[in-house]
Amino acid sequence: MSPSTKIDLNQVAYFLITGASRGIGQRMAIETSRKFEPGSVVVLLARSATGLESTRAEILDVNPHITVVTSSVDLNNASKQLLEDIIEKSLAKTPVSNFQLATVIHNVGTVGNVERKAIDMDDRQEWENYFATNLFMVGVLNSCFLRKFQKCTNKLVVNVTSKACLAPFKSMGFYCAGKAAREMYFKVLATEESDLVVLNYSPGPVDTDMTIDIQGRSNAEELRDYFKGLRETTTILTTYQTTEKFLSVLDAGQFESGDHVDYYD
Ligand SMILES: NC(=O)c1ccc[n+]([C@@H]2O[C@H](COP(=O)([O-])OP(=O)(O)OC[C@H]3O[C@@H](n4cnc5c(N)ncnc54)[C@H](OP(=O)(O)O)[C@@H]3O)[C@@H](O)[C@H]2O)c1
Repeated sequence: MSPSTKIDLNQVAYFLITGASRGIGQRMAIETSRKFEPGSVVVLLARSATGLESTRAEILDVNPHITVVTSSVDLNNASKQLLEDIIEKSLAKTPVSNFQLATVIHNVGTVGNVERKAIDMDDRQEWENYFATNLFMVGVLNSCFLRKFQKCTNKLVVNVTSKACLAPFKSMGFYCAGKAAREMYFKVLATEESDLVVLNYSPGPVDTDMTIDIQGRSNAEELRDYFKGLRETTTILTTYQTTEKFLSVLDAGQFESGDHVDYYD
């Protein structure tokens, strides 16, 4: 039988999140960690050591009774061994059997080259680089994580997805293709593993470096104007708003494992 998708975060949890140095991942890391019981272990991954350190400090401010581990890693080219070592090291003082809940949030994401149109995406290396960070290493990390926590009864896997996996947007060939492939991987995972809760959470348009980048560099005027309009009317979401919605989705548990749930649903 499939587990209920209602997630109680007030437990002794092991929690790993990628892209935790800024943006949506940083806020999700802080607000989710706030709920964990003493003895929990939080692992933050991204490249920027200073960004990770500031996330760690904020987490410990709101929840001083947990352990927060940071690991500066480039998920474009990290080896499976390195990812396994990061997880293993974070468990040095706490055996897996101590955790009531094991959670991973695959939040890492890049927008890709939005100056290119689909017709000009002829550089194989550029394709490989994009998919390495946004798909290949996500799958590898996910497998390493789930193998390690096989025996944990409650497991939650979150993929931070996008409306762009459902609808095409001009100038976003890499992004739309990557998000579509990534979400389908998580849907297959949900279908195969009935003891997991898998959520594909789409955060809506959020005020982060990523959307500043799209607004500044996209070759599609309509997309630049869209984000400019959201900023001018302050209708672009904050990382706080989307994180609050994310937590309410987990709390309500009204989705099926593998579903795509959007901020505006
Ligand atoms: N913002 C939106 O409107 C929006 C909408 C829908 C979906 N999303 C999705 O939400 C997620 C977060 O987006 P965001 O807007 O918060 O983006 P962001 O502000 O650009 O943050 C991206 C995060 O990913 C990390 N990252 C990027 N490349 C990395 C690499 N090679 N290795 C390790 N970490 C890397 C960054 O850290 P470092 O630079 O320190 O490595 C940063 O922490 C993404 O999956 C995005 O597709 C965003």
